[in-house]
Amino acid sequence: MNILIINGGMPKGGRTELITHFIANKYSYDRLDIRAAHLPIMTGEQDQWELPSVISFKERVQKAEGIILISPEYHGGMSGALKNTLDYLSSEELAHKPVALLATAGGGKGGINCLNNMRTVMRGFYANVIPKQIVLDPDCFNDLDGNLWEQPQKLVNEMVEELKMYVNISAFIATEK
Ligand SMILES: Cc1cc2nc3c(=O)[nH]c(=O)nc-3n(C[C@H](O)[C@H](O)[C@H](O)COP(=O)(O)O)c2cc1C
Repeated sequence: MNILIINGGMPKGGRTELITHFIANKYSYDRLDIRAAHLPIMTGEQDQWELPSVISFKERVQKAEGIILISPEYHGGMSGALKNTLDYLSSEELAHKPVALLATAGGGKGGINCLNNMRTVMRGFYANVIPKQIVLDPDCFNDLDGNLWEQPQKLVNEMVEELKMYVNISAFIATEK
């Protein structure tokens, strides 16, 4: 199954990168780190659409059967860098595509606004955002080895299983057409 993880985290070694790495390794999914995608601040000018980095980013999203979108919560929303990255996409790449959402947050009940923000934006692409979603606080990570504790691992697994179910449903619908 071709599932693409989009890592909207910025610092190397940050928790957003850790969880991206964890999921990519555990399930052998492809990952796209937005910091490495080299997309400029979007101006909407025509020449930006012809940049190799933009074309390759759009192709990778287009080819994926499902997406796991991961962002840190920054001031009550997704990271600005991730929003800028997503603005290069359109419903052409995302319409009806199953998308799972995961936010990293600072604790103190943060993270839900990031999830809601990503859900609203994905709705703008007509993506099929699945019901299960996760916030991972610093407490979810074992600081000694950077791995997730058992309970959050279970949540991630449940979310991945739900995403796979929606990808299978999409594939089934496509064959029935
Ligand atoms: C600029 C900035 C804004 C933040 N705003 C929030 C916030 O609104 N709510 C929250 O729960 N955490 C907030 N945090 C904490 C981060 O979401 C948290 O530390 C997260 O793990 C950062 O991801 P990283 O570990 O990949 O860098 C903020 C952090 C930064 C740097």
